[in-house]
Amino acid sequence: MAAYTTETITPKHHDALVTWQKKNFPELEFLQTNWSKYYNQTPFQLFAKVGKLNSENITYGRMTGQPRFEQAGDMVGNMFYTARDIIRAQASTELGSIQQHRLTLEEAPTDQMKMAVLRIMAEELRHGYQMFWVFDHDKSWKKPGHPDVAQDTIDELLAMELGNHVLDAFNIPFVNFLDNVVFATVIDLVGKYQLEMQKVFSYAPMGRSMGPMLSEEGFHIGSGRGFLRDLAVAAHNDTGRFSIEEMQQVLNVWIPRGVEMFGNERGGDTSIAFGFKDRNNGTAQSEYYNEVREVLELVNIAVVQCKVKDTPAPEARTIVREVMDTRETVNGVSPSDLLFAPDVKFFRSRGMEEIAFMPYDIDGNMLMENGRPASGEKYLDYLSTVLPGYYFNGSEFAKYREALLGREAPQPGRSYGW
Ligand SMILES: [Fe+2]
Ligand SMILES: [Fe+2]
Repeated sequence: MAAYTTETITPKHHDALVTWQKKNFPELEFLQTNWSKYYNQTPFQLFAKVGKLNSENITYGRMTGQPRFEQAGDMVGNMFYTARDIIRAQASTELGSIQQHRLTLEEAPTDQMKMAVLRIMAEELRHGYQMFWVFDHDKSWKKPGHPDVAQDTIDELLAMELGNHVLDAFNIPFVNFLDNVVFATVIDLVGKYQLEMQKVFSYAPMGRSMGPMLSEEGFHIGSGRGFLRDLAVAAHNDTGRFSIEEMQQVLNVWIPRGVEMFGNERGGDTSIAFGFKDRNNGTAQSEYYNEVREVLELVNIAVVQCKVKDTPAPEARTIVREVMDTRETVNGVSPSDLLFAPDVKFFRSRGMEEIAFMPYDIDGNMLMENGRPASGEKYLDYLSTVLPGYYFNGSEFAKYREALLGREAPQPGRSYGW
């Protein structure tokens, strides 16, 4: 028995998303024609997958024990709009990531990598469709005397371009294929955490959407990790397109964006109170960060096994940990041979006041100047040494630079995470 049933949305919205796909993702046809050459799984289809709930009742927050909401219109006050905001943010990530991946798709070093990115894009399109289904199938999103929330949100989502997506990470244009790979490794992993947390969602249609989406995310994350490892090993064989230093700089851009997608470390209690998530932001963020470190450790083990031939994995792990801890060369493996997760406080533009825009280096030490935290100019000098040059000089970083020098508070309204 399938773990889900399938649903389609009203032709008006279905066609609108297909029109969006033709403009933003015309390569879908190529993927569909070549699917069976690469994958054994059932070919991609654009529909919603409605999975099963772990429990019929709400399991977190104020309404624990009550039945989940089937009708959005039964959620009152803030709860209704907070649910809308979470579904809207989720949909924005799905559509935004397609726009990002496409920019550098053709630079994939191998056909396998290109096909994997195409499949990721197709599945993100389905996830967008899934969120449209959440809005579309439930007529109660239109409350009497209120605007048509479902229609307005779908229209808004279809008009979003890179630059005005809900979350920062989905406004950063990809510049080379490392972005595709690191994004799938680091940002799709945030997606996994969000979907996992939202299985408990007190609005049942959202909860039912999570399982099928999660199983597809497994492919995205797995592809990212595998390719990251291959590229890191290739860098040491001199067959790679990217050096370890370039890879580290790209990680330094994306890991902080992944970390801050969880929202303010001290927040997230409202989502739990409404029964939307099972963990607060800080807990989820630290679990995420630890997993990122584990992922990089596995990449580093493969690097050590390539540099020091015939090293069994447990010994390679010991070498990696020694290099990480001492920052010294061990068995011919130096820190610059390996990939590190920058500290959670590094290069943050959102989150707790004592972290956002504060001059922390990649090891988590505050840069000082005359006994005080270093100035914005000084921090920019530092960042120019650890971020990719094209990114440092790009338009997305310009916003950060402006905010850092002006010491503006982070923009309100975006701190809820996703
Ligand atoms: Fe997705
Ligand atoms: Fe994904």
